[in-house]
Amino acid sequence: MFKKILRITGITLGVIVGIAILAYAFIYVDMRLRISKTYDINAEPIQVKYDSASLAMGQRLVNTRACVECHGKDLGGTVLYEDALLGTFVSRNITKGRGGLPDDFTVSDWVRALKHGVNRNRKPLFLMPSHELSQLTETDMAAIIAYCSQVPPVDREPREFTLGPLGYVLSEFGLIPLLPAEFTDHQIHFAKEVKREISAAYGQYLSTICINCHGPNLKGGESPVPGGKYVADITSTGNPGKWSHQEFITALHTGVTPEGKHLNPAEMPWTITKSFTEDELTALHLYLKSIK
Ligand code: HEC
Ligand code: HEC
Repeated sequence: MFKKILRITGITLGVIVGIAILAYAFIYVDMRLRISKTYDINAEPIQVKYDSASLAMGQRLVNTRACVECHGKDLGGTVLYEDALLGTFVSRNITKGRGGLPDDFTVSDWVRALKHGVNRNRKPLFLMPSHELSQLTETDMAAIIAYCSQVPPVDREPREFTLGPLGYVLSEFGLIPLLPAEFTDHQIHFAKEVKREISAAYGQYLSTICINCHGPNLKGGESPVPGGKYVADITSTGNPGKWSHQEFITALHTGVTPEGKHLNPAEMPWTITKSFTEDELTALHLYLKSIK
């Protein structure tokens, strides 16, 4: 009797382990195919100017469009995450130093990386948020490229980007945005130029980086990261709907809300919004309050 139970348990366990191995093998092969997919993309032509106004604008955008969050303050690349199960997530050194971009990295290579999330070998880049950057105007994209190609070179060899078993599984189910090239609109043209003024239209243009976490309608909801913090509603129906422009500015510059909540920069990246000007935040607030 006891032997029989043991045998049945053994068989059941064996079957479960077998199914798990098969499922993982399937996920692994599927992810390797997605990673090695070729994207034949001709980058949209762009006029890049290297005058001081464009460079200054580029420097601001590199902060407000979060490049420094992932590539480091000196743009020399960082380790974003390291864990035996998930993997080692590293960004690239995007300066011209040792370990950085090759000398012949062209403007088209820049556009392909930023607007499409694809490298010069036509393979998808890991984690590069092309779905957001593809929403930029030509002027802003050009300013970013101008500034990045002129920053002081940093000598830093990037470590290898690796995926652990959990990294493969979460990416397979879209729980990690590993390959933004897959959900970027590759047909899109540069956005229509927007006036940099205190208007809801400019606020909407600035809100693309908020959508990743606060959702397309900016009403928040469950975190995009498994087990992450619940994301707040930041439209007229959420707390920011009740705040004055000045209170909104203070919250996004200091990380402390009028209700006295201290926002954790690891959850709500006010370290990025800290670099927004008061006018930009007012425009953003106008837009958020216009969402009913
Ligand atoms: C969410 C993190 C993240 C943000 C934000 C981000 N990057 Fe990246 N970027 C990466 C990672 C990771 C890689 C390396 C991808 C790889 O190895 O496949 C990368 C690669 C690149 C590359 C190398 C392309 C190539 O062909 O090798 C360039 C250029 C680049 N990023 C520029 C930028 C600029 C400019 C910005 C801001 C406008 C930016 N990135 C914002 C994560 C990010
Ligand atoms: C990486 C994800 C992420 C991004 C990107 C992000 N947020 Fe948040 N935000 C959060 C989370 C999570 C919370 C809730 C934090 C908490 O409850 O402590 C939050 C809270 C807030 C709050 C406080 C709301 C309240 O009720 O107190 C404001 C305001 C806010 N975000 C504005 C923005 C704006 C504006 C942007 C874009 C410029 C933005 N966030 C981008 C994740 C994000």
